[in-house]
Amino acid sequence: MGSMNRRKFIKSSTLACATVALLPNQLPAQTEKATASASTETAKTKGVKGGPTPEYAKEMLTTDMQGLGPDGKPTGQKATFTGASRANAKAEEAMKHKMKLTKEEQAILDGKEGEEKAKLMKILVVFGNTFGAEKLVDLGGAPHSNMFIGAPYMKSLINMLDECAKAGLKSYATYTVNPRPYDVYNVQNNLKDMTMIYEGYSLQKQLDYVHARLGAPDLNYRTCACYLDEVGNAPEPGTYVAWAESSAVNYGNSVLGVRTNRNGAGMDLIQAMLGKAPLFGLQTDEGRMAKWLVEIKTTKEPDWGAIGTAIGRKCVEDVPYITGLDKYFEGGEVTADNLHLLKAMGSATASSGAVGLYHVDGVTPDAKKKGKKLLAKGYQTYVIDDKEHARIIGTFENLWPDKNADPNAAFIGCPHNSYYEVIKWGKLITEALDKAGKEETAMPVYMFTPNTVRNRAIEEHGELVSRMKRAGMHATNMCGVSYGGMKGFSERIRGVTNSAKTRAYTTLRYFPDDVLVKIIVTGKIPKGA
Ligand code: F3S
Repeated sequence: MGSMNRRKFIKSSTLACATVALLPNQLPAQTEKATASASTETAKTKGVKGGPTPEYAKEMLTTDMQGLGPDGKPTGQKATFTGASRANAKAEEAMKHKMKLTKEEQAILDGKEGEEKAKLMKILVVFGNTFGAEKLVDLGGAPHSNMFIGAPYMKSLINMLDECAKAGLKSYATYTVNPRPYDVYNVQNNLKDMTMIYEGYSLQKQLDYVHARLGAPDLNYRTCACYLDEVGNAPEPGTYVAWAESSAVNYGNSVLGVRTNRNGAGMDLIQAMLGKAPLFGLQTDEGRMAKWLVEIKTTKEPDWGAIGTAIGRKCVEDVPYITGLDKYFEGGEVTADNLHLLKAMGSATASSGAVGLYHVDGVTPDAKKKGKKLLAKGYQTYVIDDKEHARIIGTFENLWPDKNADPNAAFIGCPHNSYYEVIKWGKLITEALDKAGKEETAMPVYMFTPNTVRNRAIEEHGELVSRMKRAGMHATNMCGVSYGGMKGFSERIRGVTNSAKTRAYTTLRYFPDDVLVKIIVTGKIPKGA
């Protein structure tokens, strides 16, 4: 996929479900006799204004995300971005569906619990009908939201949520939120950067205020890796949640065993305020079946970001069942010391494709329970051996405008670093510096991590953290991709990273950990790397 297409996809996948949310004024409500047409000219339900469905609505069930095989050729698949199905649904057809509501849900829809909740329920019903859900289910655990960009283009959604907050609505449980897109404390922003931040994210304060009122904790808990122990949003296996943020959804479904679709920004909070989600896609047994058997047959430990990229490109949004990885998880256990491997692989499947769930043979909860019975009838097989592994890495282009210049920034932690990773990188870099007889890294190293993880590192490894800071390693709880993509900053950095997700969304170059350490210490890209 070309970079333009990918950018378009990111934009549409972030906004699409929320945009569906803005449509009910144009679509028939559950209380009406459905006209089976998304272009209804009039609406009969009280409070629902009629009007033609805008042209752009027709694009909302599809994206421009064409599945590309590792050979770079289209596989013929398109993504719906929910992780639910291939995108051949038409809005007109989908709107014929009507899911069953309980008396309590119907009462909310009829306005018995207030006008605002009724509107949210209308949105949710339209959303559920669009994807063929049979009913709503009650949510448990806690939500995770990716409403994190306070930019003017999010204004209508922020205003809608503000109205909800003013009406006293709240999430059914305290929830976590993605990192902010900038940091004005822990990294060096020049005047141009600060102008971009304050003008570009002019609604950030309003958005943060919305979150405070709807039930999010303070900003120390901002992160995309909400499931880390220091953040604590890790619901029990089998819990229905309605999360947004592709990497968190992907990790939650796969490693925690929760049940969530890939929600868009805004739809996460609508479901959080109602405590309900339409049952479809990755929340169902059927939707969690694997259409792909992926066999990892590399002779050495694979590059986790590279295999994630390969799987995402191949499966697009279908569920893969992956074999050959259990040997990297002692006793088949995912622990605080190895979860970063699945975090890296999974987030790459979710960014190079739209994978919302994967099973790892002998490791992840669904696979431990059902094994290869999770393979759907007619599944396809994809083998990643040494040759394929090398070929995938060979597709990672150098997108720097000045291709032969030296790097000048390192990004580590997308998704956010775990405590284990912060300490690991602290030791790797400081030991390499000592060996080279150096005090400082050759470039700033941005360590993206929630403040709660940083605080634990300070408490338990104070000396190491001080040394990291003096060496040029900066802990920050913002989103690395947003920072890397900020105009001005992106024009002057030639970044390097070990995150396949960051590679997919920015011009940063990807290197495995051992090469990245050398680059950070020497400031040079090793020959042949
Ligand atoms: Fe997290 Fe931002 Fe990467 S939200 S997963 S650091 S794109």
